[in-house]
Amino acid sequence: CGIVAYIGHRDAYPILLQGLKRLEYRGYDSAGVALLNGELRVYKKKGKVEELENTLTDQPTKGTVGIGHTRWATHGEPSDINAHPHVSQSGKIALIHNGIIENYSALRKELTSLGHTFKSETDSEVFVHLIEEIQKNEHCTLEEAVRLALTQVVGAYAIVVVDQDAPQQLVATRKGSPLVIGVGKDEYFLASDASPIIEYTNEVIYLNDQEIATIKDGALSIRNIESIPTTPYIQKLDMELESIEKGGFEHFMLKEIYEQPRSVHDTLRGRVSAKQGHLVLGGLRQYLHTMINAKRIIILGCGTSWHAGLVAEYIFEEFARIPVEVEYASEFRYRNPVIYEGDVVIAISQSGETADTLAAIELAKSKGAIIFGVCNVVGSSIPRVTHEGAYTHAGPEIGVASTKAFTAQVTVLSMMAVMIAYRKGTIKETRFREMLVEFEQLPDKIEKALQLDQQIQYIAEQIKDADNALFLGRGYNFPVALEGALKLKEISYIHAEGYPAAEMKHGPIALIDEAMPVVFIATQDSSYEKIISNIREVKARHGKVIAVVTEGDAEIRHMADHVLEVPAAHEALMPIIAVIPLQLLSYHIAVMRGCNVDQPRNLAKSVTVE
Ligand code: G6P
Repeated sequence: CGIVAYIGHRDAYPILLQGLKRLEYRGYDSAGVALLNGELRVYKKKGKVEELENTLTDQPTKGTVGIGHTRWATHGEPSDINAHPHVSQSGKIALIHNGIIENYSALRKELTSLGHTFKSETDSEVFVHLIEEIQKNEHCTLEEAVRLALTQVVGAYAIVVVDQDAPQQLVATRKGSPLVIGVGKDEYFLASDASPIIEYTNEVIYLNDQEIATIKDGALSIRNIESIPTTPYIQKLDMELESIEKGGFEHFMLKEIYEQPRSVHDTLRGRVSAKQGHLVLGGLRQYLHTMINAKRIIILGCGTSWHAGLVAEYIFEEFARIPVEVEYASEFRYRNPVIYEGDVVIAISQSGETADTLAAIELAKSKGAIIFGVCNVVGSSIPRVTHEGAYTHAGPEIGVASTKAFTAQVTVLSMMAVMIAYRKGTIKETRFREMLVEFEQLPDKIEKALQLDQQIQYIAEQIKDADNALFLGRGYNFPVALEGALKLKEISYIHAEGYPAAEMKHGPIALIDEAMPVVFIATQDSSYEKIISNIREVKARHGKVIAVVTEGDAEIRHMADHVLEVPAAHEALMPIIAVIPLQLLSYHIAVMRGCNVDQPRNLAKSVTVE
């Protein structure tokens, strides 16, 4: 979900609306705003922010204090009633919430017995009733009521509250869900991330867990859960407005695909120099030796980040000779995982907010592991709870289907592996230097891969009506197959599966007929000969083969229905190049099928619930 709030001297409504549109990638099944202008007005609507906007054209929307929300449903289906803001029994207090209240049913029961009636099926609504109940019993300020409510609520939250009886005031707090405060001149902007704030101010405060921020009569104060005042730390935002706008592209996803030569360049910048023979990751210092001496590496992530982890498994094992396990964060945390002394955890997350990944980190930490973070969003929660880490520096990723974040993640993880291997002595100077050159060539090679766009559009036209698709790869390209399949199903709703090519004969081969597109990632690497046999097996069963191959490959051209030639590269870095045509392929297919590419159904960019 995305939350935004404003308090200051301007009309809040246009600021909230614009902010909600910028946050829409976090959830988009319903939206709502609450405005304070003498009295409290709450408007909410199922559907996109635009639908809310359209229904409000002739409604009063004045007021210099307001809160807004765009939702990704957890408790309760998307509907007008379940949309936020939620309002208290008296109708005077309104609240927006991102996260999940675990003990909501006990709280709801108790509040019901005290005479509260609930309008929605959401867990969030109990929060606002609880605040009002506390205020009534304790005769305290809104801030104090929020603080006391926190002691009763179990779960993850970022909330902002307004109260008709406290007209020049906003109270906000967080635990486990992000909240940023933008500091303007006599005005404040609050939001789930910096994107709604950046056009007004670049001074921000990242609220810490269980801190309560109160903005009252133009002044901000922050207290912790014990009600002790803390000093706000104002940071400068390093973000350009253009980085969160479409810049002439039809969709954010396409813009972000095309940004990759630059984003990978930014990921490498200041870290790799082939000329000077150096590779440094500034964020890996104190624990560098822990990593070098690690007995085992456990990689944690979800979705596309998990795929980046799988690529890293191959490179860490081959180069640094450290055994690696890659785990879905959600599975890892609910087992009783065995962590030995000397184990190192790498947690990968674009947003830095994914609830399962955060919880898995806490678990590993409690068992004594040293945790490295690989995140994209600067100042997000994961980098704050890890021991050390490296940012991917891909810039804001808005399209829900991850593209440039994936290539940046693989780039950072490969740099880590090569650096560790060199320090450890498992690769020699010549190999190390070769890899530095390979890193530096990546942006140009990605640029070349992007030139396949026209050809990919033609292929997309041929296969856009398929019901199913298979993606196959071996070795380093196996995770690329998984990622290609995920991209296609996420945005085009075509059922797609990624498999290790050799596993095809143990099941998926049964699905192959002339209607089945099979995408091979078959670049010239150590498993090249083997994958050629797999292509033959598919052709023998009349499958339609689309193969991503190395430039100049003559052999596969004769077998496949379509080939997409990408520049040659070291096999360890090939995933960063080979994934590009797969991103474009799913993009074009989704557009041709009339799908909403940037906001696919049911998905959200940042999943802050478990
Ligand atoms: C969501 C997004 C995916 C993303 C995954 C993990 O499901 O839709 O694109 O890969 O979360 O997110 P993270 O921010 O932790 O990388």
